[in-house]
Amino acid sequence: MDTLNRRTFLAASAASVPFLSAMSSASSRASQPGPSRPLAISSRNGTPAVKRTMELLRGGADPLEAIVAGITLVEDDPNDMSVGYGGLPNEQGVVELDASVMHGRNHKAGAVAALQSIRNPAQVALEVLRRTDHVLLVGEGALAFAKAVGFKPQNLLTDQAREAWLRWKQQLNPRDDWLDKDQQVDTKPARSGGGGPPPHIPFTHGTIHCSAVDANGDLGACTSTSGLSYKLPGRVGDSPIIGAGMFVDNEVGSAGATGRGEAVIQSCGAFQAIQHMADGDDPTEACLRVLKWIAEHTKRHDLLNDRGEPNFNVIMYALRKDGAYGSAAMRKGSSFTVHDGTQARHEPCASLFE
Ligand code: GLY
Repeated sequence: MDTLNRRTFLAASAASVPFLSAMSSASSRASQPGPSRPLAISSRNGTPAVKRTMELLRGGADPLEAIVAGITLVEDDPNDMSVGYGGLPNEQGVVELDASVMHGRNHKAGAVAALQSIRNPAQVALEVLRRTDHVLLVGEGALAFAKAVGFKPQNLLTDQAREAWLRWKQQLNPRDDWLDKDQQVDTKPARSGGGGPPPHIPFTHGTIHCSAVDANGDLGACTSTSGLSYKLPGRVGDSPIIGAGMFVDNEVGSAGATGRGEAVIQSCGAFQAIQHMADGDDPTEACLRVLKWIAEHTKRHDLLNDRGEPNFNVIMYALRKDGAYGSAAMRKGSSFTVHDGTQARHEPCASLFE
């Protein structure tokens, strides 16, 4: 998959100041105290998840079971509109969830995609891993499986997410039958003031990824999401695709992705990151190398800014078997969460572009 060897890659990158600054921040991290285990990393929204994961790991839990218990907390949070209960719906107002899990020691994966009515898709993915010879169940089949193994269907669309979806619908194309905000008939009593900026419409590619390694060096990973907000029904992102939104090789490490799923699927992002670590990259270098590959393979003009760089974000996360970790985003300003056994904290992601 990777057509660049390490020497060519580094030579080609020499002209890229942002990339070099990210690489030097990666090497300065290398002079800090060495890697420790157990350790968990996650996307920025994963503080409760890494705390729970570490609690369970310290008690001797299996890394994947610990991670899924942690991610359940975020899936249950109605205020995280990118994951689980309260996630933003598809264009028809229906919440469709994607999740995948992978167990390092057994090298077995499980995943569900376009799952409706079940608030904890990571737990369902874990049951796919445990109870079936399959890896990925989708749509109605995933829901039937979830019900069969005891999950209770419920309405996942919170008032907050429904109102965001309605505001999005109000701003659709001029030929539909939804009135724009300024066309709507106001039947409420007249108020003084009014006007002001148009309402903010939440929009997300948001996702939670968590990777963890236990004291023995065994790894696990999970990625869970409500996917691209207002997506076409049935759209599946990278999160439930093994090798894209998440991958584990117990001999090497664990990796995951958040952000524009289409770009991560078309780059096999997590699998690439693991291969780069297997070739000797440290975790941050591995993440940056995936992002560079995505940038070089983004051809559509509508996805590029005027400098020819992707105008979307992808964040890669990587955890090596020895506990070394890293994360990188397309551009500056993103952060991720780490728990090294002492506390959960946010650290800045390296970046490919300024
Ligand atoms: N990365 C989440 C998605 O695109 O669905």
